This record gives sequence, C-alpha cells and structure tokens, in this order.
Amino acid sequence: MIRLFVALALPGTLRRRLTTLAGGVREARWLDSENLHLTLRFIGETGEDTLADINHALEQVRADGFELTLSGAGHFQSRKRVHALWVGIEPNPSLTDLHARIASALLRAGCAPDRRRFTPHVTLARIKPAPPAHVRDWLEANSLFRADSVAVTAFTLFQSHLSQSGAQYQPLRDFPLERREAAP
Ligand code: 2AM
Repeated sequence: MIRLFVALALPGTLRRRLTTLAGGVREARWLDSENLHLTLRFIGETGEDTLADINHALEQVRADGFELTLSGAGHFQSRKRVHALWVGIEPNPSLTDLHARIASALLRAGCAPDRRRFTPHVTLARIKPAPPAHVRDWLEANSLFRADSVAVTAFTLFQSHLSQSGAQYQPLRDFPLERREAAP
C-alpha cells in the first residue's frame, strides 16, 4: 500500500519565509521547510495497482495557472484541544476550482470522496493536543502575516512516508496547469 495526496508544492523562498514563523509553542513540532505544501486532496492508503488510474485521472484535469497569496494564521482543534497550526490563503476562486476538478477526477478514478469541507491552508506545526490558550500568543503574533504572491503552474501527486520522526513527503509527479496568455 502507498499513502498518497495531491498538493501544491511551494517555492523555496516562500517555504523559508514560513519557517521563520516557527517557535513559541511548547507542544509544537514544526515541519521542516522541504515538507511544507498546500494539500488539495488527501487520497490515503491505496494499492499500487491504482496508481496508474490516479495518474490517468489527474492527467485529465484542465485548469489555468494562477497566483496564490498566503495570509493569516489559524489552528485546527477537536474536543477543545489544538492539534495543528497553519497559515491561510487569501480567497482564491481559481484554487477552489482546481480543488473541485481534482476531487471529481479522483472520484472517477474510484477514490473515496472526502466529506470534509476544503479549508485551504499550509500546516506549519503539529501539536501534541494543547489547550487553545497555549497557542493564543502565536495566533495573535501571526494574524497579520502576508507573503508575496506566488505563481501556481502545476499541482503535484505526493507520497507520504510515515516514520517515528514524522512524515516525509515525496513528490511523485507534477501535473502542469495551462499557461494563461498575458493580457495585451
Ligand atoms: P494538513 O495539510 O492539514 O497537515 C499529507 O498527510 C497531507 O494530507 C497533510 O498535509 C495533511 O493535512 C493532509 N491530510 C488530509 N487528511 C488527512 C488524513 N486523514 N490523514 C493524514 N493527512 C491528511
């Protein structure tokens, strides 16, 4: 079995900028720069025999390239315990549209639907479950974060390798987006 997901890889300059936000939360395990990405669709454990179908489905996705801006900071929590810290994305219809196209292509390839609402974000840290008060200062300090926008020219199929020391994410294949004609 292999563990797969589809994401946007981020340029090195942006990933390095994001690592400067790390620190100040006792329970946090901050992701290494090379592991930062924006997940579009988590596929999960799948047989290697379905990899060809998934690649084929993703090849059919047609969408224009676009610009993306990371801004703001947030957290995920369940049962009143925080488990992740992230930076958000400025509202972006092209990103929402790309997510929808990838989701329906993967459905056609036989992947189970993802019932959760798409909340675009870049996870910076996983947290040993912590009370919200422990991340309040970090959220406040980074609420006005805004990065320079970046051009999105492809999406990527990743394999996740789980280990004791945390997950490593390996890009398997890039799927280029259409080049938009420059305005005259
Ligand atoms: P995250 O961006 O919120 O951390 C690889 O595991 C990627 O898939 C991670 O970026 C993770 O989200 C995302 N993902 C979504 N659903 C997941 C799940 N059920 N288990 C693990 N990762 C999941």
